[in-house]
Amino acid sequence: MLTQHKATEIARGRYNRIAPLYDLMESLIEGSRYSRWRELLWNKVEGNNILEVGVGTGKNFPYYPPDAEISAVDFSDKMLERAKDRASKQKGKVHLEQMDVQDLEFEDSTFDTVVASFVFCSVPDPVRGLMEVERVCKPGGKVALLEHVLSANHILGWLMNLANPLVVRMIGANINRRTVENVIKSGLVLEQVTDLGAGIFKLIEARKKHCLHERAQL
Ligand SMILES: C[S@@+](CC[C@H](N)C(=O)[O-])C[C@H]1O[C@@H](n2cnc3c(N)ncnc32)[C@H](O)[C@@H]1O
Repeated sequence: MLTQHKATEIARGRYNRIAPLYDLMESLIEGSRYSRWRELLWNKVEGNNILEVGVGTGKNFPYYPPDAEISAVDFSDKMLERAKDRASKQKGKVHLEQMDVQDLEFEDSTFDTVVASFVFCSVPDPVRGLMEVERVCKPGGKVALLEHVLSANHILGWLMNLANPLVVRMIGANINRRTVENVIKSGLVLEQVTDLGAGIFKLIEARKKHCLHERAQL
């Protein structure tokens, strides 16, 4: 059994290796699907103080609300280099930092909204990462995620579980994560799950509980 530290180093290494090819690898699906879904995701954002986790090469930059204060983190230095390059060519400002979502360096209750796209499929301990998201979100704050998850269809789900060890080594992403269930496990309140395609691609909306009293009741 790998320690979390070791699993994180392996996952970071995969994304450092993939970084030069990432945009090219995604270009077909980006044009046909992802760009539309990113727009849906960013339409869900509330407030002015926003955190994007797993920013990657910065593909969400064009969808950032123009006047918002945005911090964006990623644990892969090579992905971040590309995001920095992309940020230098765009108008709005984003504060980029290398950080592990499983161990965020922000104070509790800092952000109005935390956003991620296609990230919790590759975080070694996704529940711990989502608990960190919950911690840094303000009480009553929003969490909006775009994710692919394990299909509920038995045959497809079986195939996804079978293929996962190979896929994760090749592209860094697990295709058999139960991210909706993981959001619930993290203590966030699940608000809405929108199926975007094939029962696999989901827009997940959740919220941090408002106060300690509400937390105690649940
Ligand atoms: C599939 S890419 C998605 C990138 C970007 N969000 C997008 O939509 O194109 C997953 C990203 O999550 C980052 N990531 C994975 N685990 C992470 C962790 N524990 N902490 C921070 N970033 C992480 C990877 O480095 C990679 O950039």
